[in-house]
Amino acid sequence: MFSRHKLLAFFLLSTTFDAFAEPVDQQQLLSPDGRIRVIVNNQPAGLEYSINFNDKAIIKPSRLGFAIKGQPDLAGDLELVKADKETVRKQWQPVWGERATVSDEHNELHLYLAEKTGLKRKFEVVFRAFDDGVGFRYVIPEQEQLDTFSIEDELTEFAFARNYHAWWIPAYRDQDYEYQYLNSALSSIDVAHTPLTLTGVEDNVAIAVHEAALIDYAGMTLRNTAENHITLKADLVPWADGTRVYAQTPLETPWRTIQIADSAADLLNSDLVLNLNEPNKLGDVSSYVKPGKYMGVWWEMHIGNKSWSPGEDQGATTERVRQYIDFAAKHDIDGVLVEGWNKGWEGEWWSRKPTFVFDEPVVGFDIDAATEYAQSKGLRLIGHHETAAGVAHYEEQMERAFAYYKKQGIQSVKMGYVGPRLDGKESHQGQFMVRHFQKVVETAAKYDIMVNAHETVKDTGLRRTYPNLMTREGVRGMEYNGGSPDTGNLPNHTVIIPFTRGLSGPTDFTPGIFNFDYKKHRPNNRVPSTLANQLALYVTIYSPLQMAADLPENYESKPAFKFIDDVPTDWSDSKTLAGEIGQYLIMARQDKHSSDWYLGAITNEEARMLPVDLSFLEPAAQYRAEIYRDAANADWRDNPEAIEIVSQTVSRDTVLSLDLKPGGGTAIRFIKL
Ligand code: NOJ
Ligand code: CA
Repeated sequence: MFSRHKLLAFFLLSTTFDAFAEPVDQQQLLSPDGRIRVIVNNQPAGLEYSINFNDKAIIKPSRLGFAIKGQPDLAGDLELVKADKETVRKQWQPVWGERATVSDEHNELHLYLAEKTGLKRKFEVVFRAFDDGVGFRYVIPEQEQLDTFSIEDELTEFAFARNYHAWWIPAYRDQDYEYQYLNSALSSIDVAHTPLTLTGVEDNVAIAVHEAALIDYAGMTLRNTAENHITLKADLVPWADGTRVYAQTPLETPWRTIQIADSAADLLNSDLVLNLNEPNKLGDVSSYVKPGKYMGVWWEMHIGNKSWSPGEDQGATTERVRQYIDFAAKHDIDGVLVEGWNKGWEGEWWSRKPTFVFDEPVVGFDIDAATEYAQSKGLRLIGHHETAAGVAHYEEQMERAFAYYKKQGIQSVKMGYVGPRLDGKESHQGQFMVRHFQKVVETAAKYDIMVNAHETVKDTGLRRTYPNLMTREGVRGMEYNGGSPDTGNLPNHTVIIPFTRGLSGPTDFTPGIFNFDYKKHRPNNRVPSTLANQLALYVTIYSPLQMAADLPENYESKPAFKFIDDVPTDWSDSKTLAGEIGQYLIMARQDKHSSDWYLGAITNEEARMLPVDLSFLEPAAQYRAEIYRDAANADWRDNPEAIEIVSQTVSRDTVLSLDLKPGGGTAIRFIKL
């Protein structure tokens, strides 16, 4: 006979099934300010997380776990063995960066899970909630069933609560990250690179999905999978053989990051990606890691005046490099890059197997004389390794190549990977490239060399751990305004990239074009901005190495160059004052080595008046504001060079009105009086 209790239970079970289903382990985690809530549910079918911001869902229950080759999915039938919580409130000092002190304040939830049946595999998920977003990563400990294995798929989902506005570039394209950004509904994304930036105008929320600490794993793209078209799934960029990740336990995946802010402008003040990276592993690097500005034999190739190939049009000649050194020595420029300096650039170097030799100068360029001359003038040459995507060819020479530069007193190298496939088959974002680039950074450190990489895998904040990893391209940079056979960039490009690509880390965009007339070889290309806008980019685009990209003769006797001379590349603080993606941006940064502040404001193709509140300046202090602004008739289309330089005394109570012309900008140095 059934007891009355059992009968009641049977009745309830059959009517309200959920209440009597298997116990659901639910765990919650709050950000320090309580505005962000992470909820993790251990459902029988699988582990799920969701995120609320200000009590509203932004990510609905989303799947976690892995598909593993030759084994069942590692995702469900889990026992929550243990849940540890930790509170962290600390500060740390980066070697260089957007600010001298970074706060790392977060709450952590560390879940230890084990399969109840079957292979009884174990894994962990660690969540961290900060005031500026959430990071989570998987940890797979050593165990018999998982020693060396292949990840066929990472099941992580981002089931967005709404069809947000998205700013994105498509993944799996030949030009990698070198595209202009699309602005569409989230539901229009097929597969996107990260950072992917989303805004919800009705909700007053801005979200960016990216990753932190990408080491020995594949880069993550985001693919639209669900029927509602607003759920994105991690899509790890595979090797040529289809494997996503060759793994070995113990394994820690990169952090999946979801930055969350009240506005797109606020996203730019987030340190979440850096906070999720490990501290400096290189120790004292002060003898060679030096933020600064550089020039280079570069733009003249992109605008067709000169060539990388040896011969008549050769850019890299001893004489030409001396001219750059002479100009740089008179200004606050620390290095001169020489592209085409080495053997192997003949003809169409990008369309054949690489022929580069990394320790032999081309005929016509005397590297010993050039390095000596540079050092006699108090600066250094910057090395260049173009690989044409030939990784094996590069790795064969790598040790020798960096040793060679060290012998020459070179402390900074730009490397690049032009070409759609590495070694003819691998992707620029997969584990192959992640491993290779790690080797580059570590080898460079061994020879006391800073790294500036083009066409490499995206930034995930590894500069904190490896502070010789200064900057990278990973963006459709200035070069597209020079030599691109299709069109150059649009005027709104530079007011999009700080909110998207910029969230991943420093960007070697190479601003500072002063001469807008280079039609001789490039009748269809333009720099889509005014001169004042070019100056403002030194503040709005963050990079510890900033190029003054134009030719020395184009800077000669131009008063506006004083701003490039003055502007620092290392900051004690950075503040985004205002901005709307694709429209305008106002940034203020304080010099790390003085009490000066700098401001950069830029607009898209539309003129606009922007009031700016100077309350970031010190109380009770007066400043001389040196203002570089668009002249009344400036316009990127037909009068880009028209600039006015004026000076005025201001304090934190002054409200300045910035008058930006189409494609224009304002750059200001505030000198404390
Ligand atoms: C592409 C890089 O982005 C560019 O800066 C460089 O000049 C060329 N490759 C040649 O190496
Ligand atoms: Ca490039």
